[in-house]
Amino acid sequence: MGKQDGWFEVDRKGLRQLIEGRPLSFVVFELFQNIWDTPSLTADVTLTPVAGRPLCRLMAKDTSASGFKNLSHAFTLFAPSEKKSDPDLRGRFNLGEKLVLALCKEALISSHTGTVVFHEDGTRSSRSPSLGTGTVFEAVVRMTRDQYAEVCEAVGLLIPPKGVRSTFNDTVLQQSPAVQTIVAAGLPTVVEDDEGILRRTRRTTNIELFQPGGGGSAWIYEMGIPVVEIPDRWSINVYQKVPLNADRDNVTPAYLREVRVLVLNAMAGSLEEEEVTEDWVQEASGDERATDDAMMAVIEKRFGERRVAYDPSDPESNARAAANGYAVIHGGHLSKGQWGNVRRSGAAKPAGQIVPTKFPKFDPDGVDTTYPEDRMTESMRHVVALFGGLATHALGVEIRVRLVLDRSNRFRAWYGSRVMTLNVQVLGRGFFDSCLEEHLKLFIHEMGHEYSPNHLSDDYHRAICRIGADVAAFLARSPNAFGLGG
Ligand SMILES: Nc1ncnc2c1ncn2[C@@H]1O[C@H](COP(=O)(O)OP(=O)(O)O)[C@@H](O)[C@H]1O
Ligand SMILES: [Mg+2]
Repeated sequence: MGKQDGWFEVDRKGLRQLIEGRPLSFVVFELFQNIWDTPSLTADVTLTPVAGRPLCRLMAKDTSASGFKNLSHAFTLFAPSEKKSDPDLRGRFNLGEKLVLALCKEALISSHTGTVVFHEDGTRSSRSPSLGTGTVFEAVVRMTRDQYAEVCEAVGLLIPPKGVRSTFNDTVLQQSPAVQTIVAAGLPTVVEDDEGILRRTRRTTNIELFQPGGGGSAWIYEMGIPVVEIPDRWSINVYQKVPLNADRDNVTPAYLREVRVLVLNAMAGSLEEEEVTEDWVQEASGDERATDDAMMAVIEKRFGERRVAYDPSDPESNARAAANGYAVIHGGHLSKGQWGNVRRSGAAKPAGQIVPTKFPKFDPDGVDTTYPEDRMTESMRHVVALFGGLATHALGVEIRVRLVLDRSNRFRAWYGSRVMTLNVQVLGRGFFDSCLEEHLKLFIHEMGHEYSPNHLSDDYHRAICRIGADVAAFLARSPNAFGLGG
């Protein structure tokens, strides 16, 4: 047997089976893609059903002066594509056109460099170059009417490049204005290395957000060609090669996450309240690349302006925050990543920091805050005696009452271990000169803590009712006690 030319032969039927099941929109997408990769300022594709047959006539035309440089690339699989090294072009493996051809009954490609004809019987021939500029692709493609309808609908997804007049079946593909342009610093892409191998790298590019099209769902686009449908708020058009799988119909979860973070950081402020619980926001706001501003916006839209994080170090503060109309964000409300971001950004402060209930320790930092004996007024002495006496005689509890001047906290008074501390710094002198009712209010409140630290507990509630009653009963019996009656 004589020597054959080349190692490989491609079985057209096999290639066709390989792509079976792919939405046929890829046929039209590939042709637009190839034209948009040229400098042509026009891109015209038509698809027309052939009467009575499951076939369509397909034509793609452009006006690029450079034309189809190497026509053998129309039928050579995987020839090193010039586009591999250019992140701004879509093509890469020299594959797309061949996949389109595999679905064709017959086809013709014509440019000023020549004309190749693909015949129905599986043979190929060349003709002399056509005149004029640009390239024409003509074919008869296997396509049912249902598939035809699907393709026509899918064409509406395309985002034509600015400045390229693109038509499908003589209708201009409109480009709706972008909602937002975002500079993506160092977004993953692929470029050819010295050995011609596509390698992942990072590169700065623009991404543009679009309102999702008629179907309502959003897509990730590679320079105007839809790649994968995403359940996100906006369609995302990436202006450089997107790292794709071999079928060109998906991106990695890590890539999607990175893009979502970029979108969130740019758009968090304009999300609606009900949108911040969507999966893509949840994911992006749990990523450490989410900015503090974005976290603030997301957490505020979700939990409102009055919000605190559940504070395990100060259990009562949580209940008190809730009673004061704060949304208390519990552990399960947010993911681990979101909590990390909330803490970093301060998007929600622990309840104990907003509505503290922990009592200060005596003499913080070793400073003696005791109110100087020689500055005590008559009414101060009276209140100390009243509180101590009421505790002993009305409640049967021996307590010590002390005055302090403590600037380190904003509590009027606190109680613990049978010691009631009154903070003159916060109470002010006026308190001691005020009426019996004011004094009793504070006394009852603080004595309640003999029974429970938690203002919102049932124990505390019961305790202050009883203390109030005991004090009232005692004063009714002894109206002149502690010099009151005078
Ligand atoms: N309309 C066109 N004008 C000029 N060159 C084209 C056109 N369509 C295809 N080509 C050339 O044919 C090659 C093969 O296209 P294709 O198989 O889609 O591979 P890819 O786009 O991945 O490079 C392209 O790399 C390009 O050089
Ligand atoms: Mg291509």
